Amino acid sequence: MITDYSDSLIVQEVAPRDGLQIEPKWVETADKIALIDQLSLAGFSRIEAGSFVSPKAIPALRDGEAVFLGIQRQPGVTYVALVPNLKGAQRALSAGADELNLVMSASQTHNLANMRMRCEQSLTAFSDVVALARGTSLGLNASIATAFGCPFEGVTSEDRVMQIVDAYLELGMQGITLADTTGMANPRQVYRLVQRVLTQVPASMLTLHFHNTRGLGLSNVLAAYEAGARRFDASLGGLGGCPFAPGASGNICTEDLVNLCEEMGIHTGTDLPHLLEMSRRLPALLGHEMPGQVAKAGRNCDLHSAPENMPV
Ligand code: COA
Ligand code: ZN
Repeated sequence: MITDYSDSLIVQEVAPRDGLQIEPKWVETADKIALIDQLSLAGFSRIEAGSFVSPKAIPALRDGEAVFLGIQRQPGVTYVALVPNLKGAQRALSAGADELNLVMSASQTHNLANMRMRCEQSLTAFSDVVALARGTSLGLNASIATAFGCPFEGVTSEDRVMQIVDAYLELGMQGITLADTTGMANPRQVYRLVQRVLTQVPASMLTLHFHNTRGLGLSNVLAAYEAGARRFDASLGGLGGCPFAPGASGNICTEDLVNLCEEMGIHTGTDLPHLLEMSRRLPALLGHEMPGQVAKAGRNCDLHSAPENMPV
C-alpha cells in the first residue's frame, strides 16, 4: 500500500517541561518565559509550558506559577501544564494553564518511582482533578507513561495500556497520550498499539510521546502516523527525559521532526528556520550540545558552495 503523506500533523512542543525538567543547570524564570514566548511565535498550537509537581521532585520547574503568569499568550495556542495530583491542578488553575496533562505510568514500579504513588492512587487523584475542572474551561489530557516498556519491569502489554485507556475515557479525559518514557518502543509495536487504541479513541484525541533514547524516535513517529496518529510531542533541540527513569534521554527533536515532515510533504504549520535559530541558541542557555541533528547539519536546501580548484 502506498501511504498518502499529503496530510498534516500536530506537533506539541514540550521543551519547557520535559526538556527543562532534567537539566542540571538552573534556567532563570525570565529565560524560560523568553523561550516559551519565542516558541509561541513559531506556529505551534500546543505548548507544554511547565509542570506543577513537588518542587523537591523536580526543582528545575519549581517556578511554574511565575512562568505561566509571565508568558505572553498568543491566540490559538493552548498552554498545557503537567500535573500529578489535585494540588498540582489547583496550582495550574490559578496560574492560568489552559489544559492539564495528568500523568500515570502503565508500570506500577515506574509510577512508584516517579509519582511515589501506586497506579490506583494516581487514578483516585485524577478523579479529584476531574471534579475540580468541572465548570471551568480547563482541558484535560491524560498520559500513559511507560506505555511501550518500563526500565524496571520490561515490556508493557497492550492489554494493560487498553485498560488504562478505558479508565481515562471513563474519567472523561478529552485527550490521551501514549508515552515511550525511555525510548523502548519499536515501529512494529507502535503500529499495532496505535491501531488498537484508535479503535477506542479518535485520532484528534490521541498524542504520541516518543523519546529517542535508542535512536528509534522518528521511525516510531512514522509507524504511528501510518497507523493513523496525527499528534506528536517533540522537544526543541531534542532536550528532555524523566529524572526517575534510569538512562532516560531526550524527546524526539522538534526541528528534526519538522524537517522530516517538510521533506515528506506533511504539513505541520511550524516555521522551521525559526525553530533552527532557536535550537542553535540552546547550548549557550544550557551549557551543553543538543542531540538534535538538523540544527547542526542544516536543511537539505541549505546548500554549500562547491570547493575551489576542482578538476574541470
Ligand atoms: N505541587 C507542589 N507541592 C506538592 C504537590 C504539587 N503538585 N503535591 C504534593 N506537594 C507537596 C506536599 O504539599 C508536601 O509538602 P510538605 O512536605 O511541605 O508538607 C510534599 O509535597 C509531599 O507531599 P505528598 O503528597 O506526600 O507527596 P509525595 O512525596 O508522596 O510525592 C508527588 C508525590 C506526586 C507530589 C511527587 O512524587 C511528584 O511531584 N512527582 C512528579 C515527578 C515528575 O514530575 N516527573 C517527571 C514528569 S512525568
Ligand atoms: Zn517524556
